[in-house]
Amino acid sequence: MQLPNLQEAKKRTKSKTEIKSYNINNKYQNIIKNKKYYVKTYGCQMNEHDSEVIKAILEQMGYEASIDMENADIIILNTCSIRENAHNKVYGMLGRIKYLKQTKKDLIVGLTGCMSQEEVVTNEIKDKYKWIDFVLGTHKLEQLSEIVYQSLSKKELKIEAPSCEGIVLEGLPVIRESKYKAYVNIMYGCDKFCTYCIVPYTRGKQRSRSKEHIINEVKDLVKQGYKEVTLLGQNVNAYGKDLDIDYTMSNLLEDVAKTNIERIRFVTSHPWDFTMDMIDVIAKYDNIMPYIHLPIQSGNTKILRQMGRRYTKEEYLELFNKIKEKVKNVSITTDIIVGFPNETEEQFQDTLDIVNTCKFDLAYTFIYSPRQGTPAAKIIDKVPLEIKEQRLARLNELVNKYAKESNDRYKDKIVKVLVEQESEKDKNLLMGYTDTNKLVNLKGPKEIIGKIVNVKITDTKTWSLDGEYIE
Ligand code: SAH
Ligand code: SF4
Ligand code: F3S
Repeated sequence: MQLPNLQEAKKRTKSKTEIKSYNINNKYQNIIKNKKYYVKTYGCQMNEHDSEVIKAILEQMGYEASIDMENADIIILNTCSIRENAHNKVYGMLGRIKYLKQTKKDLIVGLTGCMSQEEVVTNEIKDKYKWIDFVLGTHKLEQLSEIVYQSLSKKELKIEAPSCEGIVLEGLPVIRESKYKAYVNIMYGCDKFCTYCIVPYTRGKQRSRSKEHIINEVKDLVKQGYKEVTLLGQNVNAYGKDLDIDYTMSNLLEDVAKTNIERIRFVTSHPWDFTMDMIDVIAKYDNIMPYIHLPIQSGNTKILRQMGRRYTKEEYLELFNKIKEKVKNVSITTDIIVGFPNETEEQFQDTLDIVNTCKFDLAYTFIYSPRQGTPAAKIIDKVPLEIKEQRLARLNELVNKYAKESNDRYKDKIVKVLVEQESEKDKNLLMGYTDTNKLVNLKGPKEIIGKIVNVKITDTKTWSLDGEYIE
């Protein structure tokens, strides 16, 4: 039993990151026959990618995929801690699973992801959810096959989720969701410690993968026919800062561009580490997509300081304008938090103002959610939830207006779309994304799935575009 610990999770030392290669123990390989797994993912792209690894490890053990939870022999919830409602969804799901477990005695239930690294969560699980088989922390993925194996015979709660700075695991197996788009981790963890955020506690120290490992993974994806990679990290612009060599995100972007993969994206960009060199590289290479997710969080400099974001409103705007000026046709999206403790109406107005200035292509907006253990959670907040909800609604109205306006500019234009699959809302349509990451539902033959094709935009909505394939 290794429990997470807040004091340990906060620690950052100068110690060098260990790089370890993953190998499934022969003992656990193909030991499972005729059994199915179901993995449910919450949270960010990093978690989605972790689920691709979890699925691959389960398949190495011999499990097969189940399309629904009810028919699975093992259920894994890969969880997220970012806001209270992410927690609530998981607890709600556990309620459903408890019922399943009563009817199916051998069902194995495991919890992975960020929630498993929270002291409050593991305490609650020890108290009220003893029927869960295992909790496996973000630093312990390599022990998945072992803990599953133990769960086959030992029917008791096992928790392996120590808080630590973390290592880098290479050679992990992966079963990718898509045949055309792939996630590639370039770094793990985060050292920014924004005062509201739980991620540095759940994911450990910032650890960059070596450029060789990253480039080889991308080259391999090109060989397999992948058209697009998304480079992943909580703070990708800080890539390399923890390595001994003088090699930064702009160098990495350039080297990935030279692999000739057709499309490159990267998330998430913290404005603090965004360099002019990066902008130049993005502008120079056609295969680096003109799409940047640049979270602002607030338009008020005092709130930004309280959030620990390390930039002022003016500095953000300067960067924003530089990107707009240098990267042709760029689309910029953002994240915004409303109702940070004691945010005043005037301070909130500054956020509305900056949205009016930047006219973001899209903004993901959230009500501040106190995360236990973070500095912001200690502030006594006098703003009632009702006011925060009203602010969110006002903000969303504005954000949606600009999203629609930015989409309207595409009307009657011809754009390049990587066609991914049938559209979920209408099986007669296909769906894909533009280079600027706009969702397009389009008419066209199935043969264009997996290809980058020309599409004429016929109509625009707030969240998507409609179009027709043109030869
Ligand atoms: N690493 C990224 C953000 C990852 S979390 C960055 O720094 O830009 C994704 C988004 O969730 C954040 O940008 C923020 O807007 C939101 N978020 C994080 N913690 C939150 C909290 N405690 N309450 C509400 N929203 C939060
Ligand atoms: Fe959280 Fe800030 Fe790190 Fe982003 S940069 S993951 S918001 S601490
Ligand atoms: Fe959530 Fe952890 Fe990602 S808290 S947003 S799953 S890094």
